[in-house]
Order: sequence, then C-alpha cells, then structure tokens
Amino acid sequence: MKTYSTIGTGWIVSSFIEAVNKTEKAELVSVYSRTEEKAKQFAAEHDVQSWYTDIDEMLKEDTDFIYIASPNILHFEQMVKAIKQKKHVFCEKPMVLSETQWKDISRLAAEYDVFVLEGFRHLYTPNYQKLKESIPQIGPVRSAVLQYIQYSSRYDKYKEGFKPNVFTKEFAGGSLMDLGVYPLSMAIDLFGEPEGIQYFPVQLKNGVDGSGTLVLTYEDFVITILCSKIAQGLIPSEIHGEAGTLTVDHIAPISRITYYDRKAKQNHEWAEEQHEMDMIYEAEEFIRMITENDVESYEKSMERSRLVVKWLDRVRGESN
Ligand SMILES: NC(=O)c1ccc[n+]([C@@H]2O[C@H](COP(=O)([O-])OP(=O)(O)OC[C@H]3O[C@@H](n4cnc5c(N)ncnc54)[C@H](OP(=O)(O)O)[C@@H]3O)[C@@H](O)[C@H]2O)c1
Repeated sequence: MKTYSTIGTGWIVSSFIEAVNKTEKAELVSVYSRTEEKAKQFAAEHDVQSWYTDIDEMLKEDTDFIYIASPNILHFEQMVKAIKQKKHVFCEKPMVLSETQWKDISRLAAEYDVFVLEGFRHLYTPNYQKLKESIPQIGPVRSAVLQYIQYSSRYDKYKEGFKPNVFTKEFAGGSLMDLGVYPLSMAIDLFGEPEGIQYFPVQLKNGVDGSGTLVLTYEDFVITILCSKIAQGLIPSEIHGEAGTLTVDHIAPISRITYYDRKAKQNHEWAEEQHEMDMIYEAEEFIRMITENDVESYEKSMERSRLVVKWLDRVRGESN
C-alpha cells in the first residue's frame, strides 16, 4: 500500500481521494491547506489525523507521493519542493507552464529518482483506449473537431466582480489552460505533434480567454478545438476519415463512441461500460507506474506532457 498527501482542498482533491480509495492501492495520510480551519476540516472529511498549513513540514513525512491540485501558477514550485523531498508527484493539468519548466522538472525528477505524472484523466480510460485503437479503421484522417465547452459557475462569480483564480491571468487561468488542454493533449496523443498552431481567443475584460478556437495543422489534415468556460456546448466531437467517422459524446470522459461506416452507411457503437469516476484509471496507472518502477511508461507520459506544453506555450501569448 502506497501512502500520499494532498495539496489543495477543492472538489477535485476530494474526487482524487475517492478515486484512489476505490483502487485500494494507496492511503491518504495527510493534507495541506493554507489555513488551519480548512486543513482540519478537510482532514476530518477524509478521515485522516494529519494536517498541515506548511508544505515543507508535510513533505518531511514519510510518504510515497504527493497529489497537487493548486492554482496552475503554483504547480511548478510545489512540484520542485516535493521532488526534492524524494516524493513522486501526481500533478493536475496543466502540470507546467513552459517547456523550460518541464525540462527543470524532468531533470530534477531524474536526479531524485522519482516519477511525475500530469493528470490527463481522460487519456487513461478504457473508452479512450478504444477510440485510439479505432483510428486506423476510419482511413486517412482529414479533419477533426474536438470540443470542451462548459459553462463555469465561476464565470458567474467573475461577473459579480470576484476574481476566481481560473478566470485570471495571474494564476494562469483561462479557457485554453483549463479546458482546451484536454482536447489538445488528446490530439497530440492520437496524432503526434502538429506542424503549426493558431489560437483565436475570446477575451474577457481582464484579458483572460473565456473561450477560444485552437487550430492545429498537420501534413494531411486540420484539427479544430473549441473550448469555453462561458457557454455550454451540446455537440459531440468528431474525427473524420475517408472511410468513416468517429464520434464521441464528450472528451473527458468518453461514454459513447459511434463509428459511422461511410460505404455501408451504418453506425456502430463501440464504447464499453466504464467507471463513472474516470480518475480511477489515472490513479491506478500512476500507482502501478511507481510500484513497478515502469520507466518506459513514465518516459512516454513525460514526453507527451512536454509536447503539450511546448504547443500550449506557443499560443499562450495570444490568450494572455
Ligand atoms: N482533472 C480535472 O478534472 C480537474 C478538475 C478541476 C480542476 N483541475 C485542476 O486542479 C487544479 C486546481 O483547480 P481548482 O479549481 O481546485 O483551483 P482553485 O480553487 O483556484 O485552487 C485550488 C486550491 O488551492 C488553494 N488556493 C486557492 N487560491 C490560492 C492562492 N491564491 N494561493 C495559494 N493557494 C491557493 C486552495 O486551497 P487552500 O485554501 O485549502 O489552501 C484551493 O482549494 C488546477 O490545476 C486545475 O486545472 C483538474
């Protein structure tokens, strides 16, 4: 049984703890919050004795890994601290903000002999694997439209005059960083690096992108990514090949995959039943990776994280 601690007290941390509990392969031993009140309350909610308001103190504990779900801007410095205490790190997306930060993390992780994993929960599910295996069946890919358009309750707060971190540039928020990163990482995982990238942000008054359209160009096809935190999307995502079309109901998680065979004019449903809580799959993979010291899987996931941040970094200037 592995042991771990958490940084951040938002709902996503509770979801991660619940997902890990379901794996029965790791045990939460302590939590961190900036305030004593929240730390105590969060510890009680999750039935752990140990809580901290000082990250450095928490990192002195004898644990295997740290789960980080703080505002994006803080990931790098918190990861550095954790790695230097020889902790494996599971960090929420986007893990880092530049390829330079990625290089520092990668070098440090090697030096301290630990693994780090970016929380791309959508890429570890059985239905995503099914989608990936299905791509060759649709023939040469010619285009794709991937969308993650989800109205955020924090936008209401923003409109009321508050400053939720995810709607500020100071905390590296915005639609691309928060939601666009899901389809972007999916596109890179499925098709590799694009040749070019362009982002068309819809900026709010404070300059942060509330919505945006990201266009990835490849040699033979183009991928259009729509992301938004200020409107609600209802259309599925599609990948168009010369022989057929793959449609998924949502990017994260996928619960329906429809293959349309163009010649036969027939639809086939390919999705499997999977856990509603998709974080279980990424948590399981991470714990497996550190338990088995699976360097190959670690290097593959790190390389994908490098490519995602490399291309994010190229357009972040346009959204910030
Ligand atoms: N995988 C997913 O499905 C998913 C879903 C949601 C979010 N996320 C990721 O998880 C991370 C956290 O997202 P979130 O929406 O929970 O963020 P958030 O609410 O802005 O902040 C997360 C936590 O960080 C602490 N915090 C807040 N403001 C801070 C500040 N100014 N300085 C230092 N600490 C601060 C708070 O904990 P304390 O007050 O207790 O210290 C808070 O609970 C992000 O990277 C996001 O992309 C992933």
